[in-house]
Amino acid sequence: MERYLIKGLSNLQGEVTISGAKNAAVAIIPATILARGRCIIENVPNISDTAALFKILESLGASVKMLDRNTVEIDTSDIGEPVVPHDLARMLRASYYFLGALLGSCRRASVSMPGGCDFGVRPIDQHIKGFEAFGTNVSVDYGMINVSAERLTGAHIYFDVVSVGATINVMLAAVRAKGVTVLENVAKEPHIVDLANFLNSMGADVRGAGTDVIKIHGVDIMHGSTYSIIPDQIEAGTYMVAAAATGGDVLVKNVIPKHLESIIEKLERTGAEITEYDDSVRIIRKKPIEPVNIKTMPHPGFPTDMQAQMTAMLMMSTGTSIITEGVWDNRFRYVDELLRMGANIKVDGKVAVVQGVQELTAAPLKATDLRGGAAMIIAALMAKGDTQISDIYHIERGYENILEKFRGLGAQIEKISEPDPVSAQSA
Ligand code: EPU
Repeated sequence: MERYLIKGLSNLQGEVTISGAKNAAVAIIPATILARGRCIIENVPNISDTAALFKILESLGASVKMLDRNTVEIDTSDIGEPVVPHDLARMLRASYYFLGALLGSCRRASVSMPGGCDFGVRPIDQHIKGFEAFGTNVSVDYGMINVSAERLTGAHIYFDVVSVGATINVMLAAVRAKGVTVLENVAKEPHIVDLANFLNSMGADVRGAGTDVIKIHGVDIMHGSTYSIIPDQIEAGTYMVAAAATGGDVLVKNVIPKHLESIIEKLERTGAEITEYDDSVRIIRKKPIEPVNIKTMPHPGFPTDMQAQMTAMLMMSTGTSIITEGVWDNRFRYVDELLRMGANIKVDGKVAVVQGVQELTAAPLKATDLRGGAAMIIAALMAKGDTQISDIYHIERGYENILEKFRGLGAQIEKISEPDPVSAQSA
């Protein structure tokens, strides 16, 4: 079993360079199928989620070649049977983007129900509603989602909830539907805009991404293109919070400051000083951490994917913070782990009340999900003693080179491999 071993009470200093956005990459990689040609994608984060998508593409008949650590050449000319089996689909949530991409490209697909982080029930009714509006037959049999359509006809679709996944999946099919599609009440995250820009670079006609309404004129043919993915807003936010939490001084490079506005606003309220440059931000915290209330919302609200990291920092504030989760039903599972460090957090449904404490102490922790795991690293850096975090595969799904990046900021963090004491005993 692999774990991180982290020495506490370090304050982060120096520079860190942010990778390409995971949640843009996981949409753009399946979208290459729409071109049936050669795409070169740059600034791809080298993480286990993108590696899993490359495996799925190869299983479908695509050729995938890494040109360097973050640039991939994908040739989708020879896509065969449009089926993504369970052992591949379960590796990540975004495997369901192959439904939209294959439906657009082949008019049919079968994809096993996806995996992903556990935040309670994760319905896909809005994806299905969108596909059906184009005239698609959708069925779920033996754990597979099957979609097929003789022809896809553009449609007017109003989403009942703002969903990143449904917006992306339906866009992927709509670019190849006949006629015009209008999508209302869509997600506006930076990765939605990035996907639209990529689709347009392949010959699609997508307008309005980043607003509440997206209008798509379907096209018959799309072509390969060369495209560079935007920087990861959440990876940037994670290092910004880590810097502020540890009383550090860090320059976070390769970011789009506009994407970080809601995070910057909350960090400034905690007493951090933030300077924005063209493509970097500097975070310094010298004063005690002030408490702050946060409610997560779809973009441009405060991102749910930064909720756990902020909670970790606020564990050592000078007062009481109220954190309300506005997107997921159950995204506080990581809190049980943080309580082992002496935190004072009470969770009631979608609300956590965080009462600041003066000291946190190291404890053995288990990453519960990607962002919860990142929060545990931040907590470990603030705590007295050496913290071990297990189940780090959750963290490595979404953070490229995390050990090297934290070490570059002066953190003492290493990966250790040792037998799991429980299974060793029971073996
Ligand atoms: N929802 C429905 N019906 C649907 C789809 C969603 O009711 O058909 C609900 C969900 O249950 C949830 C809300 O709508 O309450 C928002 O879900 P959304 O579809 O936006 O989430 P997602 O697409 O499954 C993506 C990110 C998540 C991020 C959310 C919200 C990817 C691969 N995942 O998930 O990222 O939390 O959007 O921004 O893009 C992460 O990176 O750590 C992560 C979990």
